[in-house]
Amino acid sequence: MSKPLLVANWKMHGLRQEAMQLLQAICLGFSPLASSMDLVICPGFLHIELAKQILKESAIALGAQNHYLGTQGAFTGEISATQLIDSGCRYVILGHSERRQYFSESSELVAQKCQQAIAVGLIPIVCVGETKQEREHQQTEIIIAKQLAPLFQALSADDFEKLIIAYEPVWAIGTGLSASPEEADSVQQFIQAHIAEHIDLKTHLRILYGGSVKPDNARELFAMPYINGALVGGASLQAESFLKLAYLLAEQKRSH
Ligand code: PGA
Repeated sequence: MSKPLLVANWKMHGLRQEAMQLLQAICLGFSPLASSMDLVICPGFLHIELAKQILKESAIALGAQNHYLGTQGAFTGEISATQLIDSGCRYVILGHSERRQYFSESSELVAQKCQQAIAVGLIPIVCVGETKQEREHQQTEIIIAKQLAPLFQALSADDFEKLIIAYEPVWAIGTGLSASPEEADSVQQFIQAHIAEHIDLKTHLRILYGGSVKPDNARELFAMPYINGALVGGASLQAESFLKLAYLLAEQKRSH
């Protein structure tokens, strides 16, 4: 059974000084929990080197928020999976709804990136999730199945063992509205079962929930059996709230 996992997605937030203080405070507060869970911080690209220095003595892993295809080439403004590995990253978030929405990333591109990430030794955290309108039209499972489909073409069963999925309903991201624990858990269960129908998995996949996870709703979410952890935006920008989430995750998964 893999450990629960908490991932901070800092998006395009924070200047160097703020990132430094936040990293130091998280490092300090996290050390008593290091044996009970995995923790990953995904700062903006420019703070990766800084984060690598601060996190090097800690059990906290470093991740990035995206990468492009190929190991090198004429792609102005882009960063490769190989460069991320070279800079000390172990994880990468791929297919976040903000990438899909604002940068027109298709599920096919996300699957290609995912293949690339695994090929160089990164652990991809692939995000899927429906919009409010899709949920209202009872399309959640159809949409997620479509988002997952290219992964079945691009990845082998062995690749799937390395993958993490984050279920993030688009309507819950940064809105303060979270899916109810039961709603979230039933989608997580669907994702687990749907992948198992296509891929011969040896172990259960780690599936995170994301979308307005905060200290005041996390206990109930983390108590759900198919939620193995969380991908956190807003609440990861304050050491106090992020560490509170880490404590709640460790506590809930210990008692279940
Ligand atoms: P949020 O963001 O926690 O601020 O809703 C989550 C995410 O975008 O990964």
